[in-house]
Amino acid sequence: MSESGRQRGCTVGIAGFGTVGQAVARILSTDIHPDLRLTHVCNRNIARKKADWVASDVVWTESFDDLVDSPVDVVVELIGGLSPARDWIERALVAGKSVVTANKQVIAQAGSRLMAQAGQHARHLLFEAAVAGGIPIVRALRDGVCGDRLYRIQGVLNGTCNYILTEMEREQLSFAEALADAQRLGYAEADPTADVDGIDAQAKLAILIAVGLGRTVRVEEIPLRSISPIASIDFLYAKRLGCVIRQVAGAELMPDTGGIRAAVHPALVPEMSALGRVGGSQNIVVVDGEFGGETAFSGFGSAGESPIPYSESYRSARVGGALSRPGRCRDRRDRAGQRTDRAGLARHAPRGCRRRARQRSARGASERGTTRVAPTAQRYDELDRLRGQPDGHVRPIRM
Ligand SMILES: NC(=O)c1ccc[n+]([C@@H]2O[C@H](COP(=O)([O-])OP(=O)(O)OC[C@H]3O[C@@H](n4cnc5c(N)ncnc54)[C@H](OP(=O)(O)O)[C@@H]3O)[C@@H](O)[C@H]2O)c1
Repeated sequence: MSESGRQRGCTVGIAGFGTVGQAVARILSTDIHPDLRLTHVCNRNIARKKADWVASDVVWTESFDDLVDSPVDVVVELIGGLSPARDWIERALVAGKSVVTANKQVIAQAGSRLMAQAGQHARHLLFEAAVAGGIPIVRALRDGVCGDRLYRIQGVLNGTCNYILTEMEREQLSFAEALADAQRLGYAEADPTADVDGIDAQAKLAILIAVGLGRTVRVEEIPLRSISPIASIDFLYAKRLGCVIRQVAGAELMPDTGGIRAAVHPALVPEMSALGRVGGSQNIVVVDGEFGGETAFSGFGSAGESPIPYSESYRSARVGGALSRPGRCRDRRDRAGQRTDRAGLARHAPRGCRRRARQRSARGASERGTTRVAPTAQRYDELDRLRGQPDGHVRPIRM
């Protein structure tokens, strides 16, 4: 980046120089976003983190106070976890910084409170990369389909699980073999619990419920079922039913009570449905609206190579744009709103969607057209037993 370019625009401080933080820094060290200038990097034990490709005038620090006390316009929180990340975000907002974060746990647990704080201080809190990193789904829900009244969200939100399940299906691998492959390729952590048991998708679903369905739920109230009991033979049974197995995160408004029905679990989905066609580490979010019917948004999620840092720096760019030109913030990457071809999915005409949603809710989630609970090893009667299990009922907490 030229010196003149580096002096313009808004200043950015990164907290957390790990996988995502370094990728964001790399993007900010190019000419892609000339309005953004990386000025601070904060991480514990900072000496071992210093990189020679970062501009020489960037301040490296171990103290978050240095970011809070500095004139940076935007703090990008990428340390992960609940603490001290939540506290750091609050302190940055109170100090008059806008914040960009990829932290799904903090946003799922405390998003509405932090948004209120951002509002009080007239600052931005953006968290696009916290859900389905490569898909601008938060913006799509807030802006793209905001004219509709959404009543259902279903998604494949964890790329690691999707990679494992599609490899099990394609290569007829056991769960352990597919997981080992995913770990070797860097798609899965050494401890894969958060992914395979659904904890990661649970937090993402809570965020989508808040943004898309307008309800705040307690994350821990969303029931989970792990994909780890799935065996390769289950895919043969699934195929006979014209289905594949996916980790599905789903939530639906219950029109009669105003409550939310939600769960994250392995599910049978029709092979040719939008959820069924998502392979490898890709993510998809399918929303149903009262007027627009079904709309799907797909792309790489958290296990992809580049979308997360792209999304992060893009969000930073957007904050930067909003700060320097209030009211004229343009989204040059607005590719939201791609319609599904609906092949294989239950068709919803715009009219009568609400009535049918009510009927479906009354019948129970296990009989819904697009997903059914997956069988465990080798037994169709097990499938029947699982079908009888109700999905979780999550009481909404009024905002
Ligand atoms: N990786 C992905 O594909 C992905 C996708 C979507 C969202 N995210 C989210 O992005 C965030 C960052 O993920 P990541 O994969 O980049 O994690 P990471 O590689 O573990 O990086 C975290 C960085 O923050 C530092 N850090 C952690 N706690 C700290 C503390 N208390 N004080 C100072 N520094 C601290 C770590 O330092 P050490 O080196 O000392 O540990 C590390 O450098 C998380 O919220 C994650 O959920 C990640």
